[in-house]
This record gives sequence, C-alpha cells and structure tokens, in this order.
Amino acid sequence: MRHRLTAVFHINGLNTKHLRIAVVHERKVRSTQDQAKSLASDGALEGTTVIADEQTAGKGRAGRRWYSPKGGVWLSLILRPTVTIEKAPLIGLLAALSTINAIKVDTGLDASIKWPNDILFQGRKVGGILSQSSIKGDSLSYLVLGIGVNLNFRKENLPNKVQSGATTLMDEVGKRIDKDAFIRDILLAFDSLYQSFLESDSDAILREIESRMEIVGRMISVKTAHGKESGRAVGLAANGALRMLFPDGSEKSFYAGDVSLVDEGV
Ligand code: BTN
Repeated sequence: MRHRLTAVFHINGLNTKHLRIAVVHERKVRSTQDQAKSLASDGALEGTTVIADEQTAGKGRAGRRWYSPKGGVWLSLILRPTVTIEKAPLIGLLAALSTINAIKVDTGLDASIKWPNDILFQGRKVGGILSQSSIKGDSLSYLVLGIGVNLNFRKENLPNKVQSGATTLMDEVGKRIDKDAFIRDILLAFDSLYQSFLESDSDAILREIESRMEIVGRMISVKTAHGKESGRAVGLAANGALRMLFPDGSEKSFYAGDVSLVDEGV
C-alpha cells in the first residue's frame, strides 16, 4: 500500500530518551495495526506511531475483533528491535506493563496483566496488547505493537456481547481522563522499559511483570489450539513464555493461549 503524506504531530511533554516517536494521527481507520504494518513494510522508522480516534475494524489477538469507539486509545508503534526472534514476545509484555503503569499514574487505579496480553481492572478487560512481528530469514525485520485501552467512553458503547467482561477507565473513575497525557505516559514508560530490555538482561523487568500478574502461584488452565491443560502458574520464562508446573512435578512453557483460573475450592 502506498501512503499519502500524513501529518506527524508531537505530544506535549513526550520527551522520550531513546525512541524517536513520530505520531501519525488518523481520525478514523479500519485498524492502526494494518496502517502501521504497511508503513513499516514501506520502511518507516522505529518509533513511528499511528494513533486513531476510532477504528472500524480493530484487531484483537487470535483473529478476534477489537471494538474501538471514539474516546479510546488505539495506537500502533513500529519497532525494529535488535534482539533474537525468541525474545520478541517479551516486548508485548513490556507494553502491558507500561500501560498499567500509565493507568496508575493517570487514574490511581491498580490494573493487572492477564498473560499474555490483557489488561484487567478487577477482573474486567480494560485494554489489550497485540504484538505482530515480521520476520526475514532468521531475524526480526520489524514488530508492530498495538495498544488498545478503553479510556473515555462508557462500556455501553461496546456491543452487548462484550460488555459483561469489559470496563472502561472513565466508568471506573467517574470522569474523563486527559487522553494526550495518558498516551504520553504509556510511551514514556515503554521508552525506558524497552531500553533496559535492549541493553541489559530482562530479569528485573520479568519479576516486575510477574508481580502484576494475578495468576502467578495459582491453579490455571491454558487453552491452546492443541487442547486445554491445567497446572500451577509459576511465572515467566526469559522470553516471556508462561511456565506451568504439573502435579507430577514436570514443567511446560506456553507461548500463546487463553488462561483461566481453576477453582481450588479453598
Ligand atoms: C487483544 O486483547 O486481543 C489485543 C487488542 C489490541 C487492540 C489494539 S487497538 C490498536 C491496535 N490496532 C488494532 O487493530 N488492534 C490494536
């Protein structure tokens, strides 16, 4: 896809130290993810970020639809990380951690991460991360990090079928949140986490992410294309995979799947 020249704007106070963020602002698009992927394959630089007020065909994980009315944060960030393909899944978790940090700063709420990519507040989905990589040979060509947050709209603006499992930050705090400041806080948090991830070993970041995951230490089920398996979640592997311990003492790492808590009947 060829691109018309799009205005690039700056977010006040977005003084990132490492990533050079250039924002492409769209009013209404099908999906910022598709737009960013197409810009990336045309050679857009790391840090190029597509932000839309509204998406008409937002994409969720596993081919699901992502409802994106006006008022939400719908953005896709292009990255060109110099890491091995195996470490790429961790980048989605960095985005989840950046998002819950921004939620804390801008609303005071403690959100949590539901591995691999959901942002929950009191068990309801308030956001999600979609990380999509393009691989050339055996290295990463680019990665597009999609971040979606239900910010300034009422959950009644979402279709009935997703309302019961969802919430919005505006519903939770009872007022609008400064959207530019919120986007800035996500990107600033991501900038510093991404740099530590690229420069050092990610152990401290992994432990921080684990501390925001409610499932660690609990009995869970993971549903994948190959079936459903149950065991105790023990934490994250170095590449962001979920480690599960089975009753016979064996362990397995999951790279994708839908997680649910198992009732331990205590
Ligand atoms: C999920 O939880 O399934 C991931 C949702 C990711 C949604 C964001 S919104 C911005 C970007 N553009 C998309 O079409 N999807 C991602």
